[in-house]
Amino acid sequence: MDFKLTEEQLMIQQAARDFAQAELLPGVIERDEESKFPAEQVKMMAELGFLGMMVDPKYGGAGLDSVSYVLAMEEIAKVDASAAVIMSVNNSLVCAGIEKYCNEEQKQKYLVPLAKGEVIGAFCLSEPEAGSDATSQKTTAIDMGDHYLLNGTKNWITNGGTASTYIVIAQTDVEKGHKGINAFLVEKGWEGFSIGPKEKKMGIRGSDTHSLMFSDVKVPKENRIGEDGFGFTFAMNVLNGGRIGIASQALGIAQGAYELALKYAQERVAFKKPIIQHQAIAFKLADMHVQITAARLLCMKAASEKDAGQDISHSGAMAKLFASETAMNTTVEAVQIHGGNGYVSEYHVERMMRDAKITQIYEGTSEIQRIVISRGLVK
Ligand code: CAA
Ligand code: FAD
Repeated sequence: MDFKLTEEQLMIQQAARDFAQAELLPGVIERDEESKFPAEQVKMMAELGFLGMMVDPKYGGAGLDSVSYVLAMEEIAKVDASAAVIMSVNNSLVCAGIEKYCNEEQKQKYLVPLAKGEVIGAFCLSEPEAGSDATSQKTTAIDMGDHYLLNGTKNWITNGGTASTYIVIAQTDVEKGHKGINAFLVEKGWEGFSIGPKEKKMGIRGSDTHSLMFSDVKVPKENRIGEDGFGFTFAMNVLNGGRIGIASQALGIAQGAYELALKYAQERVAFKKPIIQHQAIAFKLADMHVQITAARLLCMKAASEKDAGQDISHSGAMAKLFASETAMNTTVEAVQIHGGNGYVSEYHVERMMRDAKITQIYEGTSEIQRIVISRGLVK
């Protein structure tokens, strides 16, 4: 495998790095403390084309490949994991899902503003009783002829309060199980659609997470995505790509914590020498570096397979599993290397440790990734 980056990919990586250092780093601690959505920064990300990176320019996107997306995601997440998840949901769940599976009319209406970052999107699959067990959808959409009547609750929805366009998964025919599930484009403000309070979270506090309630919401027939019964396949296919986004987010968190720990270990003196000269610390950094390099290779492999149009269910799950475990291990060790300073917000690594945890949970927990990977082995 040759992952030599092109001029264009290197340019995107540099642009994301410059943006993250100049615009995300200042204020990242305060936004975490205040659970403040990075509204100004998201606007700038839109101007840079980071909210519709892989969308065809004819729909307002930047027309870049998935490898460029991974590179940009890593740079953003290295500094601010909250900004990274906002970006990941908009790019790899919402825009990608609409571009690949919606009709021309739906694309013109919904994709163009989303890809330009004029509005933000949300992807609504999880429910109070259907998280990992995603086929157990309780939200229903009853066919009323010219429209569907949507009822139910979605839980933990990223961009839940700030989004304007929501992709909502619902059961339309219980008898048919997962083949009786559909996906719909739903707009904020429709009668019967309400948004719960913002969740108070351990990490990624800059991103807004909400429950969404649907009570007799009329969804026009033309807002269904694809053929009747396509919704679960749609969700799974979209998540395969989404997992590359979260893998890159995890990679960025790990790389950010590693860089801080490496610097600190060279500066901090204990027992008359920099702590990196104590083998116990040097070996931790060696292990971090190996794991991060392996995680990056898995992300690149999945992204380049996606760019080549291959099935990425297996490689996306492997990248997500390994990168999220790496993010958790690396951030825990980065805190350890920082000693007492690792435990206070000023040094960033405690926030990174809290942020890392979610990457093992959302877009399929680590246990679910192992299910997807092991089933792939048998296939
Ligand atoms: N890609 C494509 N199709 C897939 C698939 C995949 N990765 N995984 C399953 N499918 C298909 C299967 O082929 C099957 O279709 P057919 O019957 O037509 O063959 C169908 O989906 C049902 O699959 P299973 O029989 O395997 O169903 P299951 O109930 O045993 O398990 C599961 C399915 C893999 C566990 C699935 O429910 C799953 O992925 N759960 C995790 C849900 C998840 O990732 N949620 C994330 C929400 S979004 C989010 O979290 C965003 C964010 O935080 C930022
Ligand atoms: P459960 O499914 O109840 O799992 C509990 C535990 O049991 C986990 O450890 C799990 O791995 C394990 N488990 C479950 N089934 C099995 C099994 N078969 N084998 C082995 N172990 C198993 N969802 C969206 O749809 N859109 C979003 O934008 C979104 N954003 C989120 C943002 C945040 C901050 C959070 C916290 C969640 C978000 N989610 C979102 C939901 C997320 O995808 C789910 O929380 C996740 O899929 C797990 O589902 P659950 O919480 O119901 O856990």
